[in-house]
Amino acid sequence: MIRVRVPATSANIGPGFDAMGLALKLYNEFGFESLEKGVEIVGFKEKYNNDDNLVLKSVRRLYEAAGKEFMGIRITVKEGIPVSRGLGSSAACIVGGLVGANALLDGPLSKDELISLAVEIEGHPDNVVPAFEGGLTVSYAKDGSVRHEKINFDYEKLLLYALVPDFEVSTEKARKVLPETFPLEDVVCNISRTAMLVASFLNGRFGNLWDILSDRVHQPYRSRLINGFDQIKEKMIELEFDGLFISGAGPTLMGILSERDSRKVEALKEFLDSMENIWKLEPLGIDRKGVQIF
Ligand code: HSE
Repeated sequence: MIRVRVPATSANIGPGFDAMGLALKLYNEFGFESLEKGVEIVGFKEKYNNDDNLVLKSVRRLYEAAGKEFMGIRITVKEGIPVSRGLGSSAACIVGGLVGANALLDGPLSKDELISLAVEIEGHPDNVVPAFEGGLTVSYAKDGSVRHEKINFDYEKLLLYALVPDFEVSTEKARKVLPETFPLEDVVCNISRTAMLVASFLNGRFGNLWDILSDRVHQPYRSRLINGFDQIKEKMIELEFDGLFISGAGPTLMGILSERDSRKVEALKEFLDSMENIWKLEPLGIDRKGVQIF
């Protein structure tokens, strides 16, 4: 059996819409075994046990790209990444399916080809690239291929706290609320903030993140889909967290601290317990390795 572990990812990181992403120490594990005939899917919720299963679709797409006839497969999953929460569960299924099927076929596709195929299925590169590479990445897709770079900095310096609510927001819905065009000043705001964000990571300076993470392309629109967003943000400013961004398309929020401070974390937990929805607060490290066959 081929076993594949794929990290969760947090895309956008404020202003870097569809371009930046980071891999997190939270994982889905998949198992793949060839069958002579038929498909077995084990470990998913009932509603995902069908031909639309994203892992299965990605497996089939890999066979097609490799020019191999698909006979049958058993797919198993141990899900650590919550679904439709902005933590890259779709990207993990796509990357797991492609890498697993590629390994079953003894590796006909290169990593770059796998990344391009994953972006073709997902539609944007900012989750799948860190899921492959680990760490913090920037990327763009052009003419069917993907250019990407990993930003290397002291990952231990950035303390991330995921605020995961008990409700889902689909990426489809969260993309539909975005405008189709933007005023030039909003575009300039995002370009300058994204450049500052990359420079801050590289120089290890995490001051002023509240301003740097405040983009004008997606967060102002998506925050309205997240019940309690304004109160949580206000509280985190009051508690002197160093920043906050919507993880991917939401609804998970990612809080940042540049130094450990259990007093701030406990105070935030207490505040979240008073909210209408249930919010889990989890410290999450940055995964450095990306997808692994183990
Ligand atoms: N960049 C994508 C979006 C990530 O924000 O829609 C979705 O996970």
